[in-house]
Amino acid sequence: MKIRHFLSLLDFSTDELHALLHHAIDVKQRLKQGVLHTPLTGKVMAMIFEKSSTRTRVSFEAGMSQLGGHAMFLSPKDIQLGRGEAIEDSARVISSMVDIIMIRTFGHDRLQTLANHSSSPVINGLTDYVHPCQLLADMQTWFELRGNIKGATVAWIGDGNNMCHSYINAAIRFGFTLNIGCPDGYQPNEDLVKSGGDQVHIFNSVNEASKDADLIVTDVWASMGQEQEQKARELAFVPFQVSKQTMQCADKDALFMHCLPAHRGEEVSADVIDGNQSVVWQEAENRLHAQKSLIEMLLK
Ligand code: CP
Ligand code: NVA
Repeated sequence: MKIRHFLSLLDFSTDELHALLHHAIDVKQRLKQGVLHTPLTGKVMAMIFEKSSTRTRVSFEAGMSQLGGHAMFLSPKDIQLGRGEAIEDSARVISSMVDIIMIRTFGHDRLQTLANHSSSPVINGLTDYVHPCQLLADMQTWFELRGNIKGATVAWIGDGNNMCHSYINAAIRFGFTLNIGCPDGYQPNEDLVKSGGDQVHIFNSVNEASKDADLIVTDVWASMGQEQEQKARELAFVPFQVSKQTMQCADKDALFMHCLPAHRGEEVSADVIDGNQSVVWQEAENRLHAQKSLIEMLLK
């Protein structure tokens, strides 16, 4: 049987993504009621983190335990991958001993190479290109609060980064319109924008991009690996802060999301992220539930 990986949202069909989210909501409710759900007894996940993480690490590790399995944290500082062992060789060896691998890394090609040489399913825990697990949590949060997102308008404000790229893929799979407000020089990948067809629009202004939006989303100005660009990016991104004024351009019932970690006073003002339209804590918690559903689907 062909192994299924989750390297991008596009690896799953619209129907599969809807099924995944419905199962996530169900599993979340059962967990809150104290009902044990341990279909993965004896299963092991290897988690390779070549970048820092709070949410991804805690959610995968807690999720595997709750499902009856186990997750092991592998830092490149401690394994031979960090001393130059080929990713192909690491993939063959690690996947021969565990049931599923999660990796957070830099180049997307590194993730693809790992998947190509793995005999177990591989999950993308973030690359420089996309962050699909975060979109599962974001979509679950929307579904819980508002129902189907099809036909809604989402405004992505800020950097055309990995999160923005995953929002483009989500627009394709879930059928919403995506308005991207970003400074010149920081637009998302051109081919990806083209793949979104007339569902994806680029603006150079926060107010235009957020006009009548149902959901406003942003992310840090400098992603992991871009720390040395922080100062230059601050200059370019100052006019792209999500503020009260941005929320006023959006629909009056609009929600605010951010994958976190956030920098109050940079990409978002404190009164927005801590305000009553913000759903960032529910969004963060849903990483746990959505990924448990994902792991179950991949190991089914
Ligand atoms: N949103 C997210 O992926 O957070 P971490 O970097 O803490 O995992
Ligand atoms: N764009 C951010 C997301 C962090 C979860 C980064 O890649 O650092």
